Amino acid sequence: MTESDFTPSENYKVLTQGSVTYQSPSNIALVKYWGKHGEQLPQNPSISFTLSNCHTTTTLSYKKAASATGEIEFDVLLDGKSEPDFKPKIAKFFERIEKYIPFVKEYSYVIDTTNSFPHSSGIASSASGMSALALCLMEIERQSNPDMTPAYFLQKASFLARLGSGSACRSLDGPLVVWGNHKEISNSSDIFGTSYNGNVHDNFKNYQDTILLVDKGEKQVSSTVGHGLMHGHAFAKARFSQAHDNLSELMRVFEVGDVDAFIKLVESEALTLHAMMMTSHPYFILMKPKTLEIINEIWDYRQQTGSKVCFTLDAGANVHVLYPENEKHSVQDFIATKLSKFCQNGHYINDFVGNGAKKL
Ligand code: PMV
Repeated sequence: MTESDFTPSENYKVLTQGSVTYQSPSNIALVKYWGKHGEQLPQNPSISFTLSNCHTTTTLSYKKAASATGEIEFDVLLDGKSEPDFKPKIAKFFERIEKYIPFVKEYSYVIDTTNSFPHSSGIASSASGMSALALCLMEIERQSNPDMTPAYFLQKASFLARLGSGSACRSLDGPLVVWGNHKEISNSSDIFGTSYNGNVHDNFKNYQDTILLVDKGEKQVSSTVGHGLMHGHAFAKARFSQAHDNLSELMRVFEVGDVDAFIKLVESEALTLHAMMMTSHPYFILMKPKTLEIINEIWDYRQQTGSKVCFTLDAGANVHVLYPENEKHSVQDFIATKLSKFCQNGHYINDFVGNGAKKL
């Protein structure tokens, strides 16, 4: 599939008005995407677990409207209240998808969105939010093209979500989604995410993820700036090639159920992402002291108990604690007694791997 497969040729039947609702989850990368080129294309392949409890629900209401300015008119509501801060990112998204969704300019919109997690939690809502919005738009396209295959629907929705926020293209499906060409993964693509089609050992079924909210503030460095810092970065080439190797190794790990190797790889990926930010110009430390305290507690606990708990990080201070389902009770007890004190207001979210977005 190439970009041109998503450029429609037929004429669209423009409906007068309507509304559609999707719920889409967040995802957590195991091999990280960091660095992009062209129009939201990844510099290396990545793979993520799709989450369940952390999700966005978006209702897109549309009404036929001839825009006086040529600009798309839309309002964004978060929990029923106008949220103008979200508008620039969505305006950019509409601009990017115009050539793939020709009817997009025929309507004005109200985007009514709620997150299952607190807005100011430091959890990125862009993956769940952009994927939910992309799915709503595809639903409008499907109304005028009912013969569209489910596979095409999902691929194009992921393709559009990517244009909103790169990692959003991995939120539509589950439980594991790959984005970015990898030579050993036949259906992998740079332009959309695909459900991982290799064998996955039972050890990795229903994996648990507790998100420790260490810093609920605005991100210190936006993703856009962070990705940009990979251009001209002294170690970028080696990092991109390492991500390919790590994904190959992870395929073996999934096949044989090697949880110890999983831990090494996933923690190393998280620390590498942070190391790239510490060694860029300008340089940043995205962890907080409490992030490090949590990491040390996890390492101690693993040493003392033989637990298979591990951590990963996204581009911020919060910690994702990953563990197999059979350790759910013991690890959640450990989190409540030893780790919750490092979270802002003791706040953390128990989540687990899920199967992607759904229409409501
Ligand atoms: O989707 P973006 O552009 O916000 O980038 C997110 C990148 C990481 O979350 C740090 C890693 C990843 O692969 O999700």
